[in-house]
Amino acid sequence: MSKSCDFQHHDLLNELNKKNSISDKLAFLHRVVLQHDSFIHRIGVAVYDPRSDSLKTLAHSTDGSNPLPHYQCRLSEAKSLYRIFLDGRPRVVNDLLSLDGNREHSRRLLAHGFRSSYTIPTYQNDKLTGFVFFNSRQPEVFLEDKLPYLDMIARLISLLVSVELQQVQTLYGALKMATSFSGHKDPETGAHLDRMAHFSRLIANGIATDYELSDETVEAVFWFAPMHDVGKIAIPDHIMRKPGQLTDEEFEVMKSHAPRGREIINTMLGNFNLDQSGMASMIGNIAEFHHENMDGSGYPKGLKGEDIPVEARIIAVADVFDALTSKRCYKPAWQNDEALAALKEMSRWKLDPTCVKALCAHVDEIAEIQELFQDEPETCPMETGPRKISNANVHKYGTVLDSVK
Ligand code: C2E
Ligand code: SIN
Ligand code: SIN
Ligand code: FE
Ligand code: FE
Repeated sequence: MSKSCDFQHHDLLNELNKKNSISDKLAFLHRVVLQHDSFIHRIGVAVYDPRSDSLKTLAHSTDGSNPLPHYQCRLSEAKSLYRIFLDGRPRVVNDLLSLDGNREHSRRLLAHGFRSSYTIPTYQNDKLTGFVFFNSRQPEVFLEDKLPYLDMIARLISLLVSVELQQVQTLYGALKMATSFSGHKDPETGAHLDRMAHFSRLIANGIATDYELSDETVEAVFWFAPMHDVGKIAIPDHIMRKPGQLTDEEFEVMKSHAPRGREIINTMLGNFNLDQSGMASMIGNIAEFHHENMDGSGYPKGLKGEDIPVEARIIAVADVFDALTSKRCYKPAWQNDEALAALKEMSRWKLDPTCVKALCAHVDEIAEIQELFQDEPETCPMETGPRKISNANVHKYGTVLDSVK
């Protein structure tokens, strides 16, 4: 027996090795920080997307109510954060009451009883990746000697987040490549996938309170929505591109895209050694269950109601809406109001009514998203490069890839 066996080492951060979400890891780190600095009442992390200049809360850990659910803004319009970005240095506000600016953000923090903050910009390869926020309900607590420890925690948080984003980007890139090599002209590439992703986020945001979805879940739905039909790469061309109604036999083959999607995703997750990652089950559920119906009449499993994972119910609504409003080789495009009326009808048996309501509440955003991500004229499959986006709304609706870059 070696002597080292007597040594009872307890890894303080062991929890971070586990398969759980960013929110769970953040909550754990918050507990660790509280043992050291009991005045830290909230930790938040926001990610920055340079292409669209948008900043979004990704996760937070707060004792009590969350003052900033689903917070999103443009960095250049968030005055004090923009200042931090320009200076490239963290900022201490030891009393939020003393700030003269009447920024929405500080007002909301104050309204929830926060009095002071420490904000740290995070970088990777010299590029801003986001901010970590520490907030306290007490004023004058972020003293000089407390900051180095918090800087280290912030760095750890930003590394955890960037690993997660890197994984999403790896998967996304691999799936795109698989699709482009599969040889058939998939109607579900390009602009369709971006619209899908944004419609899905509108829905996820709209139901977040009712269904208790975290910011991270909302973002994950946005990231993974474009992968819902990856199983279609396994469907023969003559069925995929048939210009008319499918026969029963052909539709049976078509239906296999759902379980095939999960298989492909599982293979990919395995190849990248990501099968233990927190996102694995969500992507799989989206691919396999986005054609399940609330009354159990869908495929592949005939799941009912709440047994259908919420991420799949969200994707189903976004997918049907975009399918209806797009031209397909088997159908013309419908008008938005016709499509929304059809969705309402379908919410009686097929689609989740809460998700349908959430989409219907955003007709203006729907139109903005459609204008921004328009279908290109027919191109050959090898030509599906990056899409040209030229519209003032690009800041609001970046592409999925931009947001993980
Ligand atoms: P997709 O084109 O992305 O359509 C997704 C879903 O939107 C469909 O799932 C369906 O629920 C809804 N949808 C699309 N077009 C219409 C429509 O004109 N009317 C109504 N009421 N709903 C519509 P579904 O039926 O399980 O089909 C899955 C996929 O199978 C479709 O994805 C498409 O790729 C293919 N597909 C379905 N029907 C046909 C067809 O008649 N001809 C061809 N070539 N492909 C078809
Ligand atoms: C946050 O604290 O999560 C929002 C970002 C800000 O400080 O404006
Ligand atoms: C949002 O829900 O974050 C804004 C709408 C969108 O970008 O899809
Ligand atoms: Fe599908
Ligand atoms: Fe689809």
